[in-house]
Amino acid sequence: MSDWDDPALMEVLDKAEQLKKEDFRKPVADGKMLGLIFFNPSLRTRISFETAAVHLGAGSSIIQPGQGTWTFETRTGAVMDGNRTEHLKEAVQVISRYVDIIGVRAFAGMEDPEADLEDRLIRDIGKYATVPVINMESAREHPCQALADGLTIRERFANRPQGKKFVLSWAPHPKTLPMAVPHSALEIAARLGMEVTLACPQEMQPDRRVLDQIEEHAGRQGTQLAIENDQAAAFEGADIVYGKSWAGPLVYSDPEAEQKLRTETYADWTINEQKMALTRDAGFMHCLPVRRNVVVSDGVMDGPHAIHIDQAENRLHAQKAVLMKLWNLF
Ligand code: CP
Repeated sequence: MSDWDDPALMEVLDKAEQLKKEDFRKPVADGKMLGLIFFNPSLRTRISFETAAVHLGAGSSIIQPGQGTWTFETRTGAVMDGNRTEHLKEAVQVISRYVDIIGVRAFAGMEDPEADLEDRLIRDIGKYATVPVINMESAREHPCQALADGLTIRERFANRPQGKKFVLSWAPHPKTLPMAVPHSALEIAARLGMEVTLACPQEMQPDRRVLDQIEEHAGRQGTQLAIENDQAAAFEGADIVYGKSWAGPLVYSDPEAEQKLRTETYADWTINEQKMALTRDAGFMHCLPVRRNVVVSDGVMDGPHAIHIDQAENRLHAQKAVLMKLWNLF
């Protein structure tokens, strides 16, 4: 998302809205090809990109390193005498000769905080590629998810999200999930001009450098980023509650202590109907997949607040718009 300024970003959202209304299916990208590299599993991202390609008349090839394609070495300067077969450098240059866009999913390694924050792997791929690279969730960001989130929020407020209260609420989870989705959700809400609240235990707060960037986006729109350690206080008057689990920064230095915080100390951060009742009839969003009755109760997932299925559908429309923009089709 940082490659596009606010007007360019809004232009993509406008296009996505139009494509959705028209149920756009025309072979405007006939003969084009996507190469989609998945280092990690996916349901929504994979199917929505494949479907978007078909709707535009393009093709797609799924590359899952080690599962039908060679295993990739990703480290620069590695002595490749282990079981990794092909260096990413060659693989990406070769794939670039076959396809018109490369999509990459490469989650945070959760071992080196600076490497994750710098998004080293996807940035290396960007250097090796000779065609545009789309981030399908990297260590630091999930921009395609954020575009779908932006479309969903705009739909909820008749295209006037400015000034509405957006709450990103941390929630418990048994696994150490990365921070890409929360980073990007905060960014899109700020760039839409919403009043953004990050609700999380102190120990789960993302890196200050990321928060500074969100504050910059909010400041440009005349709004603010508030950080609230009291979940109930954050939910008061919310117009959107975006539920998400992530591992706190302690995961890099003391994973056992972090696990205890995430699964025991803050187990009562599960989002439920009582908490949603504090909001201003907020829409409940989640990027999915979600652990029911850990992250969020069945009552919220199946109740009137839930808009997560529309949110998932919007991945298709937003990504169709991204492909069309990168192919200069609007
Ligand atoms: N939200 C999301 O990216 O879903 P998948 O991991 O299933 O692609």
